[in-house]
Amino acid sequence: MIFTVAIDGPAAAGKGTISRAVAERFGFAHLDTGALYRAVGAKGGDPVAAARNLVPADLARDDLRTLEAGQAASRVAVIPEVRAALLEFQRRFARREGGAVLDGRDIATVICPDAEVKLYVTASAEIRAHRRWLEVGGDPAQVLAEVRERDARDMGRADAPLRAAEDAVVIDTSDLSVDAAVALATAAVARRLGDRPG
Ligand code: CDP
Repeated sequence: MIFTVAIDGPAAAGKGTISRAVAERFGFAHLDTGALYRAVGAKGGDPVAAARNLVPADLARDDLRTLEAGQAASRVAVIPEVRAALLEFQRRFARREGGAVLDGRDIATVICPDAEVKLYVTASAEIRAHRRWLEVGGDPAQVLAEVRERDARDMGRADAPLRAAEDAVVIDTSDLSVDAAVALATAAVARRLGDRPG
């Protein structure tokens, strides 16, 4: 079975948690596409060459989740050649046998416009910054500023800006528990799976 769940949204909205839970629930493979951009940013040097030559070890670095790596990722992510270099890998992953969940910024709009399920996961900037602060610590005001800066860059770029696809189901997690957000996402996938012929 080929079945793609595309999950997009701004920084720290809860995409990762929801994606992992949906993948586990339905036995689908999961790709955190942000890790690709984080790995390109962390590699340093020429970002286009880094994107063309990514290897699994680049994705296994233990410094990919820092605030700095997030900023570096969003800076290399504005470069069209970087995005182009990562596109085929993501599309192949999405259409692999057995179902796939991909989370990122442009999955439903650019990578998989024909995804069977499209979710846009969001929350207020303050709540997202608080969640990211719980993860990385440091100065809360700086974490909020970084979240806002990254949102502005991701939404404002010319190539594949972050936005909800017209047919995406929007899940605002500001006032939702993890379980409640996962339940909404899971229900959307189950509905679509139920619609499938055969
Ligand atoms: O985990 P968090 O939501 O903070 O970020 P991430 O998903 O790891 O993505 C890091 C950065 O990579 C984003 O701010 C985007 O600039 C970029 N990105 C992108 O441009 N396209 C994607 N499909 C995924 C990430």
